Amino acid sequence: MSFSTTLTVNGVTRTIELDDPRVTLLDLLRERLHLTGTKKGCDRGQCGACTIIVDGRRINSCLALAISHDGADVQTIEGVARGDRLHPVQEAFIAHDGMQCGFCTPGQIMSAIGLIEEGQAGDDPERVREGMSGNLCRCGAYQGITEAVLEAQKFLGTAHQRKVA
Ligand code: FES
Ligand code: FES
Repeated sequence: MSFSTTLTVNGVTRTIELDDPRVTLLDLLRERLHLTGTKKGCDRGQCGACTIIVDGRRINSCLALAISHDGADVQTIEGVARGDRLHPVQEAFIAHDGMQCGFCTPGQIMSAIGLIEEGQAGDDPERVREGMSGNLCRCGAYQGITEAVLEAQKFLGTAHQRKVA
């Protein structure tokens, strides 16, 4: 028996045939669409390495069944830069050394983008840490990550205000 799911991934709509209803969004992205920027860390919802944005919300793609998200809009790390121009969150991670091995970094960046879009964190480092707490970094780049999120948030908030004015 085969199943199909239609997703818009980074602006491109694709219909993918699946032979197993248990295929996760993470495996679909990595193995069927070859978007390997989204990482598989624990594969059980504990590390955040697989974080993507689906219909505007951050999720762990290792816990999401692809067929449950038929019609969804999916954003992955491959879709955040604009050509050669990095996303402000990516730039801030580089500027603040928010990474060491880099394995958790795509998930951290997607989570940071989601957190900023949710407008929950304000300029409070403690709230940023709490908002990013689902994303583990085993090599301990947390200080840089928090500084990067705060800076990107300030930049994006100002850009948003400029657009509204
Ligand atoms: S791989 Fe999904 S939370 Fe760890
Ligand atoms: S940069 Fe190494 S686990 Fe995060």
